[in-house]
Amino acid sequence: MSIDHVGHAELVKFAIDKVNLPRDKADKFRAQARNLREKLKGYLKEHPDFALRKMLLSGSLAKGTGLRTLNDIDVACYISGSDVPSDIDDLMEYLAERLRKAFPNFKPEQVQPKTYCVTVSFAGTGLDVDIVPILYDGDPDWYGNLVNQDDGSFLRTCVPRHLEFIRKRKSLAEKDFAQVIRLAKYWVRKEKRERDNFRFKSFMVEMILSKMLDDGQDFSDYPEALQAFFSYIANSGMNERIVFDDYYLKSKAEVFGTPIEIIDPVNEENNVSQLYTQAQADDIVDAALDAGDAIDAALRCPTKQDTIRHWQRVFGSAFQG
Ligand SMILES: Nc1ncnc2c1ncn2[C@@H]1O[C@H](COP(=O)(O)OP(=O)(O)OP(=O)(O)O)[C@@H](O)[C@H]1O
Ligand SMILES: [Mg+2]
Repeated sequence: MSIDHVGHAELVKFAIDKVNLPRDKADKFRAQARNLREKLKGYLKEHPDFALRKMLLSGSLAKGTGLRTLNDIDVACYISGSDVPSDIDDLMEYLAERLRKAFPNFKPEQVQPKTYCVTVSFAGTGLDVDIVPILYDGDPDWYGNLVNQDDGSFLRTCVPRHLEFIRKRKSLAEKDFAQVIRLAKYWVRKEKRERDNFRFKSFMVEMILSKMLDDGQDFSDYPEALQAFFSYIANSGMNERIVFDDYYLKSKAEVFGTPIEIIDPVNEENNVSQLYTQAQADDIVDAALDAGDAIDAALRCPTKQDTIRHWQRVFGSAFQG
């Protein structure tokens, strides 16, 4: 049986060699973000009325779900005050200008407003840090209006609770939950390369896998867990509503009527997949059907070479068994 050719152990090795962000790099990037956070803290001590209230590492680097190909460090920045512009371009200028004040040892051109975030680039080594604004009105749980990186709209959400949500599930399935997320995101990257206009937001992948974990899916065998992920997508057609009860009653969650409905686990009024069309849902289902077939074929395949070829349909040519 070809589980002998490629099984859990081979996927573990592939993940370490090709998929995961190595620990030393992650530590370095986290230190880079911490450095900015500490600088802002220092500035706030001297200027307690400053509009920038707090910076928080968010995104995959904070959740431990980052890929080797990570290309930016996501940091959320809470902004409050009566003179904060609501126009998105003005807001980015405003944020950049305040960041330049808080980080006087950075050259002004190292702090650049982009469409929906402000980029701080480090001279020499390191990745850029993308600073995403959250308009903040003093909520004690740190809810605020996050600028959606897809379209610049404002989303009411809570990044610290998102981190807590994932952390809680990571503690239930140890390293396996985060590892299956990373393998699934690696598959998404490959689909994005091969299919025009393919979209599948990392946060949505995480919510689907969270739902599967909550429903009792075992994550300890990676071929099996991935097969379950692709089956879930194929069987649900991406049209099954996903809602959690960590922070509100499921019955309170709005029904949005969009093709994909994955409700933000921290805000029942926010549909994370609001912008996805039926055609985009269908593309995800098609891709998952292909990947599921490939794994089925791999698990039945008599020769090692063909088994690897089937797995390459899931992960691309970087997969060498
Ligand atoms: N539609 C949304 N509603 C609420 N929060 C969101 C939404 N999209 C993103 N977020 C927040 O932004 C964070 C980053 O999400 P995103 O999908 O960009 O990916 P990521 O985890 O950084 O993965 P990667 O950058 O590796 O693809 C999420 O963990 C969540 O806190
Ligand atoms: Mg990110």
